[in-house]
Amino acid sequence: MRTLLITGGSGYLGRHLCRYATNKFATHTTFLHHKTDITAGVPHRLDITDAAAVRALVRELSPTAIIHCAASNPGQDEARMLTINRDGSAAIAAAAAEIGARLVHVSTDMVHAGTNAPYPDDAPPSPITRYGESKAAAEAAIAEIYPSTAIVRTSLIYGLEEMDRGTAGFVRRLSAGETLTLFSDQIRQPVWVETLSAALLALAADFPAVRGTLNVAGEQALSRAEFGQRMLDWWGVAWREHTTFGRAADLPVPSPLDLRLDVSAAETVLGMSFPGVDAVLDNTR
Ligand SMILES: NC(=O)c1ccc[n+]([C@@H]2O[C@H](COP(=O)([O-])OP(=O)(O)OC[C@H]3O[C@@H](n4cnc5c(N)ncnc54)[C@H](OP(=O)(O)O)[C@@H]3O)[C@@H](O)[C@H]2O)c1
Repeated sequence: MRTLLITGGSGYLGRHLCRYATNKFATHTTFLHHKTDITAGVPHRLDITDAAAVRALVRELSPTAIIHCAASNPGQDEARMLTINRDGSAAIAAAAAEIGARLVHVSTDMVHAGTNAPYPDDAPPSPITRYGESKAAAEAAIAEIYPSTAIVRTSLIYGLEEMDRGTAGFVRRLSAGETLTLFSDQIRQPVWVETLSAALLALAADFPAVRGTLNVAGEQALSRAEFGQRMLDWWGVAWREHTTFGRAADLPVPSPLDLRLDVSAAETVLGMSFPGVDAVLDNTR
């Protein structure tokens, strides 16, 4: 059985990916602080900003493929974000290159400014947030160190068995008695975690020649307000009385508005379709 290393197995995407991977791979995964969040695979503690530790673990496990999910995301420590996302990803790329492991890196639609959608796979990054900058820097570092890497740009990730991070944040604020503001002018293509996981595993195992940036996101473009309502309804959360609608464009901080991605190349190459939110919900009700 081939060996797969998934970084960030204690995170939202990693938890799902590890469960699906164990059918096909001898799966190893990493955590930094939350070992008990790992749901499948052999856990290893790893700080990806420690390049020597990254190199040692990759050499020890000698995986056929690595899917790099570990990252610092919006809402987490901004001071360490660039170090974790750029330098940590560079360490993973160097270690993968050294042993010739297939590398699949998880990036984001947030590398774009949101002013020129829909974005093709090879659109150059134009980030306007600290997170977007750090993920664009990760892409650049990886492409330089290990050009055969597949770099997957994805959108808001959601699942129907475990509440996604964004919806969980809404619920926390509603529970604290706050009023939610959902933005009608931010357009995204939310991706079902099962779809994204299947695409990442296929890229890791079955399509080793795919390199460079590739968009993997749901086919349906929705505003964050539309997506938020659908998720809150799905989880049975009472939100209507405590929610207003607004425009992200009115915020004092920059925030990308339209991040639609052209996903046609990935669907063709992988022979998959990436259902949108309504199709996923309709099929699973
Ligand atoms: N969630 C989304 O909607 C979304 C959208 C687009 C792209 N993405 C990308 O998808 C990937 C997965 O996101 P996610 O939402 O699943 O993330 P998440 O739930 O925030 O999990 C982050 C993971 O990274 C690990 N980590 C953080 N700092 C680390 C470090 N210095 N060394 C080693 N591991 C570290 C965490 O470990 P511990 O918890 O154990 O500390 C955790 O396993 C990321 O690359 C993210 O940029 C996510």
